Amino acid sequence: MTAADIQERPQNEELVRVDFDDRVMIITLTRPDALNALCRKLISQLNSALDQAENDTRIGAIVVTGVGKAFAAGADISEMKNLTFAEVAEKDFIQPWERLSRCQKPVIAAVNGYALGGGCEMAMMCDIIYASDQAKFGQPEVTIGTMPGAGGTQRLTALVGKAKAMELCLTGRMITAQEADVMGLVTRVIAGDSLMKETLEIAHKIANFSAPVVRMIKEAVNDVSEIPLVGGIRMERRMFQSTFALDDRKEGMTAFLEKRPAAFKHR
Ligand code: CAA
Repeated sequence: MTAADIQERPQNEELVRVDFDDRVMIITLTRPDALNALCRKLISQLNSALDQAENDTRIGAIVVTGVGKAFAAGADISEMKNLTFAEVAEKDFIQPWERLSRCQKPVIAAVNGYALGGGCEMAMMCDIIYASDQAKFGQPEVTIGTMPGAGGTQRLTALVGKAKAMELCLTGRMITAQEADVMGLVTRVIAGDSLMKETLEIAHKIANFSAPVVRMIKEAVNDVSEIPLVGGIRMERRMFQSTFALDDRKEGMTAFLEKRPAAFKHR
């Protein structure tokens, strides 16, 4: 693909599909001819979908997945090939990708196939990663003369430790879902034909809990890497105490004692 081809893409070309299933938004990367490579237009459409989810109180959880044999095979190499340092620095190339990691609502990656380079980094920006038993993970940037640029060296190291992250980033080796599971990179491996069904079951479960409580839990877990333990424990206790201001906290405890399902109102 040349720069001219990119210009010629129709403006309304759909590279991301958005579906709704009760309180769950399903975002599907739909660029199978390029293994869902993450071009600028795809990232822009992804970010619009995330903004929509965040602004809609009817959405309680987000699932990100891909069509075909890839979750995403990384940043779009044909789009990057001719870029200069001056251009990528001036535009702060890759920065818009970070939108996913700033999502306040829980995001589950359903990794259906290749999650390489930026695709692996995108999965790691999500809160939970369910991997099909056919999925493959890796940071192959070194093999094309560059390095991870969307958090790969940082998030992968935090998840799997220095020794394993070094090997993956320095060799570009691809690993199976099973190996990724053993390393702690993914939450769980699921048989490919059950991936979406099981992912959606969990997404619905989370989406139907009290939205403000879910948001606080996500924030507290994410704070682990930024706050020393003593401060983190104190912060968590204050957040726990603040759930006592919610109708949902009263309803949840009352429902338990009355032996009935809770009816959360997300306030
Ligand atoms: N960018 C653009 N196009 C890509 C792509 C990518 N990252 N990955 C695959 N494609 C395209 C191929 O060029 C090919 O297009 P054509 O049919 O037009 O030739 C099509 O998708 C199918 O790919 P393959 O024929 O290569 O499929 P395969 O089954 O033989 O191999 C693969 C699959 C091992 C995933 C291989 O496609 C591959 O290695 N892809 C590149 C992976 C990669 O290096 N990713 C890192 C990108 S850099 C990055 O992400 C930086 C960052 O941190 C932000």
